[in-house]
Amino acid sequence: MIENRKEEHINIAESRVVSPDHNFWDDIKFVHQAVPEIDFDRIDTAIKFLNIKTDFPILISSMTGGTERAREINRNLARAAETFGIGMGVGSMRAAVEKKELSDTFSVINEYKIRYKIANIGAPQLIDQEKKGFDNKKIDYVFDLIGANFLAVHFNFLQEMVQPEGDHNSRGVMKRLQEVAASYPVIVKETGNGFSREAANMFRDAGVKAIDVGGLGGTSFAAIEYYRAEKAGDREKMDSGRTFWDWGIPSPASIRYCNVGLPVIGSGGLRNGLDLARSIAMGAEMGGFARTLLSSADKSYEDVEREIKQIIRDLKIAMFLTSSGKVNDLRKAGKIIMEPLKSWLSLYGDE
Ligand SMILES: Cc1cc2nc3c(=O)[nH]c(=O)nc-3n(C[C@H](O)[C@H](O)[C@H](O)COP(=O)(O)O)c2cc1C
Repeated sequence: MIENRKEEHINIAESRVVSPDHNFWDDIKFVHQAVPEIDFDRIDTAIKFLNIKTDFPILISSMTGGTERAREINRNLARAAETFGIGMGVGSMRAAVEKKELSDTFSVINEYKIRYKIANIGAPQLIDQEKKGFDNKKIDYVFDLIGANFLAVHFNFLQEMVQPEGDHNSRGVMKRLQEVAASYPVIVKETGNGFSREAANMFRDAGVKAIDVGGLGGTSFAAIEYYRAEKAGDREKMDSGRTFWDWGIPSPASIRYCNVGLPVIGSGGLRNGLDLARSIAMGAEMGGFARTLLSSADKSYEDVEREIKQIIRDLKIAMFLTSSGKVNDLRKAGKIIMEPLKSWLSLYGDE
């Protein structure tokens, strides 16, 4: 069941339209600096994230594991993470907990020297559903399996609502998250619907180390589940998938909402190096890419390498043309925010 689901997610994400109509990164326009007065070849793209240095402000977001094909995708992504000196996450490791024989589809990334590795479990698995919630022994298992530096806990409650086999309970999640965050360095992440300030404040108080916004604008799991439901002839889930296709907080707005004193990863709909520059300009430490890297990682290592090289090149062009010699300088770069993003930014009286 898990194997089929993972495989279907990959197939749908690669071949169908799974994004909302609007990409909110397009609502951010940098002010062009015709006289950059910096040397393109001396632009410094290195950053420190929670005390770990990476050569670029790029995270390969959590995507997959649990099948043969996923193993090869993880292998190609891991090799690219080593080449570029960046961090990476793997997909939900529930599959490895439930079927130990699938473990190597995740641990394959240990063949490479990666600046930091992020294990991944779902918030719904923190508490009892029809199955018992993960105890610390299970979390230890997934953490050690890939020699992780961080534990991502993904919040995907919209997906749980629209998928046939979804978990319905969220009561007690924060209490358990707080316990888990006392034992592991936790990064919370959404999977395409973003976090509000209320959520961000709860996460800070629970002791998590960083927030990955995973906002609206890129992969929509309501859309992915819509196609799965269509194939399964499940009319009810199909209708919900279509209704909630565009649900969520736009990624750039969520970066602002999550400005509560923790490092923020900007993700959800990043297509290229310009979007990456925009995410940093909004306040993120770095950007996370998922679907943009998926089909190349499914083809070959060389394809992922080319894709990431292009992202880096375009990031550097955006830095050059905004006179940003260092990644952090992007925060000071002049920019215009257009509608509809502009209205989202006024929610907490921030803008
Ligand atoms: C095929 C696919 C599988 C994914 N699986 C997971 C997962 O297992 N765990 C997780 O935390 N996020 C998962 N994600 C979500 C991504 O990490 C990311 O938050 C989301 O796709 C938004 O980024 P994007 O618009 O760049 O794709 C998955 C995304 C894709 C495309």
